[in-house]
Amino acid sequence: MFQNDIAAAALLTDEPRSNTPRLSAAEAALARHSVRAYRDVPVTDDEVRTLLELTGRAPSAFNLQPWRFIVVRDQAVKDRLRTAAYNQKQVGEAPVVVAMYADMEDTMVHLDEVVHPDLTPDKKAGTVAMLQNTFGGMTPEARATWANAQANIALGYLLLIAKSEGFDTSPMLGFQADEVKRILDIPAHATITSLVALGRGADDGFRSHRHTVDRVATFV
Ligand SMILES: Cc1cc2nc3c(=O)[nH]c(=O)nc-3n(C[C@H](O)[C@H](O)[C@H](O)COP(=O)(O)O)c2cc1C
Repeated sequence: MFQNDIAAAALLTDEPRSNTPRLSAAEAALARHSVRAYRDVPVTDDEVRTLLELTGRAPSAFNLQPWRFIVVRDQAVKDRLRTAAYNQKQVGEAPVVVAMYADMEDTMVHLDEVVHPDLTPDKKAGTVAMLQNTFGGMTPEARATWANAQANIALGYLLLIAKSEGFDTSPMLGFQADEVKRILDIPAHATITSLVALGRGADDGFRSHRHTVDRVATFV
């Protein structure tokens, strides 16, 4: 087992962190709905850390992990975010709002720390050069779009893991991005992947409507 896997195994065999039994990935996928009303039940920093630790297990191309998170629980900041999010009430009501964004420019200037620590010095130099070559010729806008696609994988993980750990969420793209960046001091070049309201739901959300496999899949 690698060191990270040992740490993950320890994390996953801890005593339950909430009163809600953990759900398998399949159970969480079936039980998860966007929840837009929240009870006044606190979510601790440790609980959020666990969710983000597990979210960070998401895969990404070249393992660049360009996702970043700002965990907001300050009511005054949430109220400002709510205004920037067209007054969506879950932004002010949920105990925590996670602002997820992708920052490829930060990734590019820290490639030395981003690449796998087990690489030999030679392989590390080669990998860094390959990444600089791959992404250096792209515009910052194209890099941002690429990084946001990776961050969306982590967003899916966060929504599913939160449900599995007993929390409800509401992912949102309905907000004025420039305003959210100003409020949270997110760099102008970054792309905001989502605002995610997080807490214990006051209702179950809407019944899910999903296409059948036959409508969206072709087996060849
Ligand atoms: C990236 C993303 C952005 C979304 N933005 C909003 C939003 O701004 N406001 C909102 O009420 N719901 C938003 N939703 C929720 C979707 O409407 C919802 O996921 C979809 O209708 C399916 O319902 P379910 O999440 O309950 O399964 C968003 C979902 C995603 C994945």
